[in-house]
Amino acid sequence: MYRIGQEEIDAVAEVIKTGKLFRYGIGNACETFEKRYAEYLGVKHVMLNTSSTVSLNAALAGLKIGPGDEVLVPACTYIATAIAVLAVGAIPVVVDIDESLTMDPKAVEAAIGPHTKAIIPVHMWGLVCDMDPLMEIAKKHNLLVIEDACQCVGGAYKGRMCGSIGHVGAFSFNYYKNMSAGEGGATVTNDDDAAMRIGCMIDCCQFYWAGREKSIPLFTSAGSRASEIEGAILNVQLDRLPGMIKAMRAQKKRILNAMADIKEFKPLKYNSLDWECGAYAGFLLPDADTANRFQAIHPCMIAGKTGRHVYTEWDPIIEKQGAPNPVLNPYNLKENKDCRMDLKRDQCPKSLEILNRAVMIATHPDRSDADTDALIEKVRAAAKQIL
Ligand SMILES: Cc1ncc(COP(=O)(O)O)c(C=O)c1O
Repeated sequence: MYRIGQEEIDAVAEVIKTGKLFRYGIGNACETFEKRYAEYLGVKHVMLNTSSTVSLNAALAGLKIGPGDEVLVPACTYIATAIAVLAVGAIPVVVDIDESLTMDPKAVEAAIGPHTKAIIPVHMWGLVCDMDPLMEIAKKHNLLVIEDACQCVGGAYKGRMCGSIGHVGAFSFNYYKNMSAGEGGATVTNDDDAAMRIGCMIDCCQFYWAGREKSIPLFTSAGSRASEIEGAILNVQLDRLPGMIKAMRAQKKRILNAMADIKEFKPLKYNSLDWECGAYAGFLLPDADTANRFQAIHPCMIAGKTGRHVYTEWDPIIEKQGAPNPVLNPYNLKENKDCRMDLKRDQCPKSLEILNRAVMIATHPDRSDADTDALIEKVRAAAKQIL
């Protein structure tokens, strides 16, 4: 979250004053946001919910992925991406990232097996996946594509909004995201059938509030309805998003350009530099040791060392604990017996090697040009010290 203030206070106060905190038949903040965000993304359905772990889970269920299916996920993402796969009874299979820090299309193609049903490209840290080759591979092998755009709210790939390119997309609005209501999520799609199923996942009782089409096969779920407070905050945050993204993109380019003469600071592979969020200027240093020495002088993020974004940190998955009860654990289901269930910590050495030397300098939409220049000077000075 970059900004929050009086406008959000006013929007929430309005909801509280009217007492209209429930969305169906009472308030209209969630519905307004869903319509506006659908237009912003260029998709038919936006379905708000309480977190993106739920959004991803609903996306997978919406596409009828379940026991017996493998879903390819990248070596670098928050564990929730893989947890959502297990939550529908399927098995996550980890594949390498490339120098963009996102899913390597070549690794995806090499990893496709007889049980692979879907892939989840994750647009990490505002960077975007190379969606053209990924969509081509998916089409060739008849795979479904769920875009995890949790960390790329407002980002796009070659002019198409992230989350709108695959069959279904998922967004997070938790505290750390470009738009935030503290917690929150949305599942988006153009697919009417998937949308009906996603609706059941988000609110298994939606037919009480929204009426029931008899042709819609209902099923039960845990449910995760958004409140009008979430909707009200997000309506304000959406107004600000385009300006913030524009500022971050410009700042990122300024940093990249300023480092262009230092060959040891090789820019990441940017799949769509003009369109991604611009949250970080990322560089690949010659090796992990150089990256560590740089970080010791200039505080920054090393992609492989955030403590929670690399598959090696996914203990419950490595330990095959995919549910609170062994009977429900996808790793114990007979339907999954032919799926690739083992995740070894040394499975993706190429990804680890890249992530441990990827140095990420954060941008900020409120940083002035003068402060950006001062930051660049510090980064350059630190670079000279270690090289
Ligand atoms: C890439 C990615 N996927 C999924 C999630 C899960 O989102 P939430 O925290 O809204 O459940 C996150 C959250 O940080 C994330 O970064």
